[in-house]
Amino acid sequence: MFARFCFYPMAGLLEEIEPLKQAALKEFSAATDLAALEQHKAHFLGSHGRFTALMKQLGTLSKEERPAAGKLINQTKTDLEAALNQRRSELELKAALPKEPADFTAPGRRHTLGKLHPLTQTTEDIVRSFRRIGFVVADGPEVEDEYHCFDALNTPHDHPARDTHDTFYLSTGTPSVGGASYTSPKLLLRTHTSSVQIRVMKSQPPPVRIVVPGRVYRRDNADATHNPTFQQIEGLYVDKDVTAADLKGTVEFVFKELLGEDVRIRFRPHYFSYTEPSFEIDFSSALTRKMGKEWLEIAGCGMVHPKVFENVDYDPEAWTGWAFGFGIERIAMIRYGINDIRLFYENDLRFLRQF
Ligand code: DAH
Repeated sequence: MFARFCFYPMAGLLEEIEPLKQAALKEFSAATDLAALEQHKAHFLGSHGRFTALMKQLGTLSKEERPAAGKLINQTKTDLEAALNQRRSELELKAALPKEPADFTAPGRRHTLGKLHPLTQTTEDIVRSFRRIGFVVADGPEVEDEYHCFDALNTPHDHPARDTHDTFYLSTGTPSVGGASYTSPKLLLRTHTSSVQIRVMKSQPPPVRIVVPGRVYRRDNADATHNPTFQQIEGLYVDKDVTAADLKGTVEFVFKELLGEDVRIRFRPHYFSYTEPSFEIDFSSALTRKMGKEWLEIAGCGMVHPKVFENVDYDPEAWTGWAFGFGIERIAMIRYGINDIRLFYENDLRFLRQF
């Protein structure tokens, strides 16, 4: 191609420009996709393209002719660049458009809004009530060590209460923190959120006012009222001169907010190794009567055991406190009149949509 132009006189070179421009314009507008368009660009305007070749011919022209010819070639190239950009935008737009033309008469597509799971809603409502009276949310690991889950809570290895909580031990890993009395560094899925009491008290001086919502694990078979994993909310209040009356008043306040003004609370003596005295909390309302019972057991609680305070280096002579643990599923079941705990875990939208 170069050789061919080499021997053309000036008139020949100038005559080449317009037909070449027309050919380029034709190819640009015939390109049906961006890749083809880029190929045509390279062919006409690229560094080895046809217009570059023409420019190289300028040297064969006389001095007088050269500027006008150069100008014409440059102007043509500018025109072609503009045409190329125009075609590129058209092709880009075409690529972005859907293949099918839009049918503006078709009915709209509704986006369904998601909702929070009933257990999450219940947890948030409980937490909101506690926040109103000055509690903050604390958190701890689900993979816990025996020290925090049992030993520090005054439940040593040979304690009978530990049997009922025997649960999912992990075969690997070492716990992050151990205590002086700690001899068997085993990890397990926590059986209750009470372990977080220890973690929080070890990390800060009193006073403490926390709630701890979270998942726990038990060696239970699934039936209408049990599941091997469920949710609890733990509470801990440590300060000067805290009494069981504060505990009862607090629990009553939260339950009334959650389940209605007609709620009544009853404490029954019980045993937990980390509280003394310990109680189980029963409650009664129109909701329990609807379920065929006057009183329903709902939580464990008590005054923090002095041994627990010693384990976290709080002075049991100076500080008193109380703690409790509720099962969140239990509360949600009563609240919504649900008779099978497994419904919470099946992710059946027909169930979940009702809340
Ligand atoms: N951890 C107990 C359980 O899982 C519940 C409980 C009882 C928590 C008494 C407490 C407490 O903080 O003081 O059944």
